[in-house]
Amino acid sequence: MASKKGFISEGIIEEVRSRVDIVEIVSEYVSLKKGGRNFKGLCPFHSEKSPSFNVSAEKQFFHCFGCGEGGNVFRFLMKIENLSFPESVRQLASRSGVTIPESSQENQAEKSEREVLYGLNQSVKEFFESQLWDPAKGLRARKYLGKREISTELAKRFSLGLAPDSWDALLTHFQKKGFSTGQLEKAGFIKANEARSKYFDRFRNRVIFPFTDNRGRVVGFGGRLLGEDSKAPKYLNSPETLLYKKGKIFYGIHQAGKAIQKDGFATMVEGYFDLLTAFQNDIENVVANSGTALTEDHAALLKRYTENVTMVFDSDVAGRSASERGFEILLKQGLRVKMAVLPPGEDPDSYLRKHGRESFQQMMDSSKPFIEYLIDSAAREMGSSGSVEKKSACVNKILPFIAKLPSSIEKNEYINILSERLQISDKAVYGDLMKHGSSRSPGFAKIPSRPVSKGRPSLAEQCERGMVQIMIQNPGHIKYVEEAVAISDFKNQDLSAIATMLFEQNGLEGSISLDKIMELLPSENQKSLVGAIAMDLTEYEDLERAISDFARGMKKKERKIQLQKIQKEKSFAAKALDVNQFQKLNENCQELRRELS
Ligand code: CTP
Ligand code: MN
Repeated sequence: MASKKGFISEGIIEEVRSRVDIVEIVSEYVSLKKGGRNFKGLCPFHSEKSPSFNVSAEKQFFHCFGCGEGGNVFRFLMKIENLSFPESVRQLASRSGVTIPESSQENQAEKSEREVLYGLNQSVKEFFESQLWDPAKGLRARKYLGKREISTELAKRFSLGLAPDSWDALLTHFQKKGFSTGQLEKAGFIKANEARSKYFDRFRNRVIFPFTDNRGRVVGFGGRLLGEDSKAPKYLNSPETLLYKKGKIFYGIHQAGKAIQKDGFATMVEGYFDLLTAFQNDIENVVANSGTALTEDHAALLKRYTENVTMVFDSDVAGRSASERGFEILLKQGLRVKMAVLPPGEDPDSYLRKHGRESFQQMMDSSKPFIEYLIDSAAREMGSSGSVEKKSACVNKILPFIAKLPSSIEKNEYINILSERLQISDKAVYGDLMKHGSSRSPGFAKIPSRPVSKGRPSLAEQCERGMVQIMIQNPGHIKYVEEAVAISDFKNQDLSAIATMLFEQNGLEGSISLDKIMELLPSENQKSLVGAIAMDLTEYEDLERAISDFARGMKKKERKIQLQKIQKEKSFAAKALDVNQFQKLNENCQELRRELS
């Protein structure tokens, strides 16, 4: 899946944007009511009872004051449909009649080759199925499935099949149908011997699991050896082909999709039988990663269905480190990951068959957010008598994960848990966290050293916010703001970062769009703040007046300090009978007082 904008030109993106109306698009998902200059509705991205979700027709922008989500029409579609950016552009392009030139990568020739391959995969699936359900030929395999407690019904639902115990059953069958050895080899169904003089079937004497994409098209196969006795590998999968990329599919996603959406989370297991046994127990929100490393594409695929994943991996060390790597990847894509821990030596298949569905559910219910699981297992390993070195090693192991969390609120929460469980001060943890937050994890340097107070912002802060609002809503006025205040006058860190960016961009470009602002801000907090400010409907009749009022408000504290200082100097001058100096200071005082009032 292309996750970059690369394939669609900026011009086309702009064209699409100009042709669609965000209010119309959002209305298809959210019932909107006109309220003032904006439209309001219940936010589709978090649950709420009173509407804080705003859409501005003027700005072609949405923002939720409840959860902070916001952006342009592409962002809305990406979030609500779980699409990638190019996918959202394509979708809006097609409905607004903009044609996107086909990229050279997917030209006609490849397209038709894919079509042929889909057809071949489908026929091969049917071939394997016919072998399994053949009364005589499939008997042994059906017995094996019975032993593993897979019902006939479930086997049919997943189109399980049998690769017969033969060197060339598939080869001969498909040659008769007119496929060449070249085609069959490229599709991964046959292999050549070293001299390339003979071909033989790749899958032999195996139960077959067809892999489908999320739309249900067959793209490849996995096979498990019938029985345990042979020297051949237990599992064998299709090689990578035009259709099958192991980093892009989950076994079972097509069958599990609906349940994942309904349950609000996905259960991720490793093996084919783990998934099938779960389904056999009416647990259907399950996907299997087939023992492969998780990729960004996997995460993006899951995100089409849910943002919540519970991983149920073997509790062995390999399983654990695999899940730690997987966690990072899922997290980067904005998924929330929990970890369920099985007793040693069990996998979901064996656990379910031994202890049953209820016990499995209980274990799932007690699953913990991944970082908490990490902290707990580290604390447990360390025991009660952890030395300073051990604690610090433990902090260093866990901090990189915390540093990758998307929001500072979550970061704060886990730092609290970490410092509590390890019995160390959270200041020390914050100090270390700064070291982990290089440019790789944007937004992280802004983490406050103590929880943000939720009280009313101070007068000065309200002025800073007003100033930023004027700049965002009237980019033409940024230059007047620059004349009136300096960056150092912004005391709120996020507002100061936003102002810095606005000043810089204004110098470069002369004007700046909301989209550009969003794109340039590194932290989600700041993006969300900008969204909220952009939606603020406070109007200023006289902008220049508002700018000077805010500037005064921002400088008030400093002015007060200055005034006290001058008054002291004034009384010195009076004592020294320095009339000139006294008069000068007196004028300064009056000016400051005027400014302060
Ligand atoms: N796997 C694979 N290729 C391998 C080994 C494993 O594709 N060479 C995948 C399979 O999807 C397998 C999963 O990784 O189901 C987990 O492997 P493992 O734990 O070894 O197998 P189980 O699923 O427990 O197999 P079984 O219960 O049939 O013994
Ligand atoms: Mn197993």
